Amino acid sequence: MSAIGLGIDTTFDDTSVAILFGKSEILANLTLSQFEDHEEFGGVVPERASRKHLEVIHHLISKALKEAGIDFKEIDYIAVSNYPGLLGSLLVGLMVAKSLAFALKCPLIGVNHVEAHPYANVLTYGEIKFPILHLVVAGGHTLLMNAKEHFDYKIVGQSLDDAAGECVDKVAKMYGYPMPGGPIVDKAALEYPGDAFSFPRPLMHKKDHNFSFSGLKTAMLRFVENNSKKFYTRNNYLNLDEREGPVLSSFFQSVIDVLIYKTFKAAEKFELKNISVSGGLAASKKLRLAFEEEAAKKNIDLFYPPPKLCTDNAAMVTCLAAHRYEVKQFDDLDLEAFPNLI
Ligand code: KG4
Ligand code: ZN
Repeated sequence: MSAIGLGIDTTFDDTSVAILFGKSEILANLTLSQFEDHEEFGGVVPERASRKHLEVIHHLISKALKEAGIDFKEIDYIAVSNYPGLLGSLLVGLMVAKSLAFALKCPLIGVNHVEAHPYANVLTYGEIKFPILHLVVAGGHTLLMNAKEHFDYKIVGQSLDDAAGECVDKVAKMYGYPMPGGPIVDKAALEYPGDAFSFPRPLMHKKDHNFSFSGLKTAMLRFVENNSKKFYTRNNYLNLDEREGPVLSSFFQSVIDVLIYKTFKAAEKFELKNISVSGGLAASKKLRLAFEEEAAKKNIDLFYPPPKLCTDNAAMVTCLAAHRYEVKQFDDLDLEAFPNLI
């Protein structure tokens, strides 16, 4: 009989609750985004984020149970992301998860949020084809994982400074777009040519598999400063201006070129024929098309989830936990939350 898991993700500014049957059947996956609550401050305010999680989480759990058509008594385990993220936000999810596990007398499973992103592919395709190279391109992390099996992986490359998503969000912000900047940059990349301007492709030809996006961000800032008169004359931030479309498109082309070059180079080095792409930036149509094209050329099997499962969601967290439940890898109720990846 397949187990039913209830999972919680409150790592950053999205509150998400999911209910999963077995290892991949989503019974409910509800996410509330706080972007609008932080907009007036120009970025996520940690204290405000924790309070918001607290305000909505119980309501979200009730709604998820209702949508799944199940009762608390039917839950077999509780999953929760306990790192990395904003400490105050993580603590809200973790305390609720611990209370539920204690009250329901069922196991608690703490999950690494970044490690969970590739599990969105299990929800999409069924079991992962190992060995595989996972590229996670999220707002806070960009990393490459060489995975032999579940829970047996090595981080072979990561961003030495800003994550690709963070860089995209900041560049969009330079042009006055609210968080998250990815969708508007993706729109620009689909509508305008990506070769109108030439921006840096950091660390592209370095031998290791690490990334760096802060230099590109600075180059964009300089570009905006030098061209502010030309580019800052509009007052409608919802539509793409035809003067800035090619700039954003060329910028995104730099990001995509680096991600593609580094990922496929790592796959070649580690002799991997399967690649998965996950995390919020993987929702970009432009990025997906570019990866598909390269995968076809290199005869690689490529996996990526639908956009809703690319961005933060508790279903991927519960999915990873379902694999831990199977091998009875549980955590104690003194499980801690911590902000960093390692
Ligand atoms: O995985 P995620 O939701 O959060 C973290 O774990 O950090 O990723 C957030 C990132 C942001 O940089 C956001 O701009 C980007 O994903 N993003 C997108 C799209 N939706 C979100 N980028 C491109 N196209 C999208 N549709
Ligand atoms: Zn994430």
